[in-house]
Amino acid sequence: MFQASAPGKIILFGEHAVVYGRPAIAAPLHRLQATAQVMPGRPGQGVVLELPDIGQRATLADAASQPLAQVALLTLAALGLDQQPDWTVSLRSTIPLASGLGSGAAAAAAIVAALAGAAGVTFSPAQLSALVYESETRFHGTPSGVDNTVIAYRQPVWFVRGQPPQPFALSRPLTLVVADTGIASPTSMAVGDVRRGWLADPAAYEAWFDAVGQVVQAARRAIEEGDVAALGRLMDRNQASLQAMQVSCAELDALCLAARQAGAWGAKLSGGGRGGNMIALASPEQAEQVATRLLHAGAAHAFVTEIR
Ligand code: MEV
Repeated sequence: MFQASAPGKIILFGEHAVVYGRPAIAAPLHRLQATAQVMPGRPGQGVVLELPDIGQRATLADAASQPLAQVALLTLAALGLDQQPDWTVSLRSTIPLASGLGSGAAAAAAIVAALAGAAGVTFSPAQLSALVYESETRFHGTPSGVDNTVIAYRQPVWFVRGQPPQPFALSRPLTLVVADTGIASPTSMAVGDVRRGWLADPAAYEAWFDAVGQVVQAARRAIEEGDVAALGRLMDRNQASLQAMQVSCAELDALCLAARQAGAWGAKLSGGGRGGNMIALASPEQAEQVATRLLHAGAAHAFVTEIR
């Protein structure tokens, strides 16, 4: 009846510090997608969510505990549908869960867009982003909004919390190797630990956030100038600050090191950290070699992608 998809995402620079008002640069990851399909259901059933990837089924009565039921409820309200339509929404996703690639926000965005489409409405990226953000705040405490923004706009974005996002085009495509530690790590836990650390030692954390903010500003200039070698060095500096904040882990550090040894210009964790994925910036010629080295160094998966 109606189908909509949303991409995964990569944080190129600025995760965690972005929660505290510093800028971040993020890009959609189109090769991984969440797809929601709306089909007519049985009369009287209301909206039913089928989530075969995690073996769950939910109705809107589960909205207090199930984030995707919550986003569906918010979407119906935004569409002005006072009475629940009898729709079955089936969600499939190729984005690994709790891996820093935006699985939650992409699933929510696909559901919002599919429900709107079934009702004959097309939300703007800003509307889509706002609905996903609203549902995320109810479950994840203090998200910055970068994930829902880049996924809804489907373009690289310069993002500062509380300001209109600035989508931009890259001066030249970037070749990235993305590798998964295979360790599931919910972003909300890493974000909560950073908050506790910041409350205990605000001066140290503010200094690390400032250092990240400067790296992100410099990264924007390097992207505009197409200076990939400088961008790689900035990734390494960003990773050093993330290590200081204790959101990296031995497995992420080992993969970053292996990527640099295989000839990548730079490498860092991407997303919440403590597991999940890392990214390495490489030349198109060297990228496959870097991916192979990452698999040998213990990555559960590794692939090459182009950000444009
Ligand atoms: C998660 O993709 C990025 C974090 O900075 C959290 C957030 O911005 O909400 C770790």
